[in-house]
Amino acid sequence: MNVYDTNRMIDALVPHGYENISDIENADLILLNTCHIREKASEKLFSELGRMKELKERRKSNDKETLIGVAGCVAQAQGEEIMKRAPVVNLVFGPQSYHRLPEMVKKANDERVIDTQFPKEDKFDFLPKAKKSSTIKRGLTAFLTVQEGCDKFCTFCVVPYTRGVEQSRPVAAIIAEAKNLVAGGVREITLLGQNVNAYHGENEHGVATSLAKLLHRLAQIEGLERLRYTTSHPNDMGDDLIAAHGDLAQLMPYLHLPVQSGSDKILKSMNRSHTSKKYLNLIEKIKKARPDIAISGDFIVGFPGESDKDFEETINLIKQVGYSSAYSFKYSPRPGTPGALMQDQVPEPVRVERLARLQILLNEQQDEFNKNMVGQIMPVLIDKRGRVSGQIGGRSPYLQAVHFDGSPDLIGSIRDIKIIAGDRHSLKGELVRENGVEVV
Ligand code: 5AD
Ligand code: SF4
Repeated sequence: MNVYDTNRMIDALVPHGYENISDIENADLILLNTCHIREKASEKLFSELGRMKELKERRKSNDKETLIGVAGCVAQAQGEEIMKRAPVVNLVFGPQSYHRLPEMVKKANDERVIDTQFPKEDKFDFLPKAKKSSTIKRGLTAFLTVQEGCDKFCTFCVVPYTRGVEQSRPVAAIIAEAKNLVAGGVREITLLGQNVNAYHGENEHGVATSLAKLLHRLAQIEGLERLRYTTSHPNDMGDDLIAAHGDLAQLMPYLHLPVQSGSDKILKSMNRSHTSKKYLNLIEKIKKARPDIAISGDFIVGFPGESDKDFEETINLIKQVGYSSAYSFKYSPRPGTPGALMQDQVPEPVRVERLARLQILLNEQQDEFNKNMVGQIMPVLIDKRGRVSGQIGGRSPYLQAVHFDGSPDLIGSIRDIKIIAGDRHSLKGELVRENGVEVV
């Protein structure tokens, strides 16, 4: 979502004469967009601000002024502290204030600005749409936020405090944004939300619309070949959404469905309000609707009170599901969350060891998933040149990176590729040819 938000910040500033550049030494305005989900992410900000201080001084010695801004969830949670600890910062603003950016930047030339209120208005009503040239530059795949915030209050998580309550954008606004992206060459859209499958935005008649219905609407947009969505909560996986995985050709066979832990005791204490059995049943149901679906997940090890037995239950659950990929983390106590105050914090060395064991298993599963692709023919959305000259690459329906020999002229198309090798991080393939001629 921060990638999406960053693009929207750029879109907000472009009409005011700003241009997004890659050489930071020439930037008059530098915005650091931050994440507060785990401790490391906010530590990174303060070390980055040290670098910004040097850069600002260097530019100053050449008579150039530099404005430094901090955006995102660290700004939201620790705005005052950032202002105090880092005098180099000119403006601080939370995730719900991006639409006020031009005004804030103007003001920041004269005084330090902090805006971490949750405004009454909806930022999406004010953010300008992306210019066609910007969309083209950003490539063939795009993110689109449809839902933001969360009311679930998992006891480890800061999101409900930093992003605010759950809100869904109206269907019409999403369709318009998707059409704008497609007009700029986008062929694959990933719908975003902290709890995306809880989406319930109003349609044109004021009726609450499910994510499944929204996907059906989006699938009607000509030129929009692929749809994905992330991140989902098991409790919001409605029957119509499961069915959509079988019914909608555009909906890719990949689902990120975090479970966090395989122990019912820990799930309860995490306030996940589902059991491991319920999750496993759900996966079974989804696989019935779309047998080849790739399942991905998130895991936290070392949540307070997690015993060896609880951890083994997570290992068992992973073995039962068989993940194509996954993200796993050591529990990181976040200020203001109930988890941080719980007794029985798990000692760091235990967390480290459990994470290592978990990741060995998840890596094995990823290796196996990729190796099983060898011999299959699959449509690949070709979106870039490969690292090796003469090669081009793209993404499989299962979100794997695929590379193969081919002409850069094919970039932008979806072609059938036969997979000839696979390792943990990518697949190697070849263009499907008939009698030595490419199949068009
Ligand atoms: N500690 C470790 N991991 C966390 N996540 C969220 N909060 C924490 C935390 N305090 C992980 C969860 C979530 C993903 C986005 O980040 O697994 O699904
Ligand atoms: Fe955080 Fe996701 Fe739980 Fe919401 S559902 S509190 S975003 S982990």
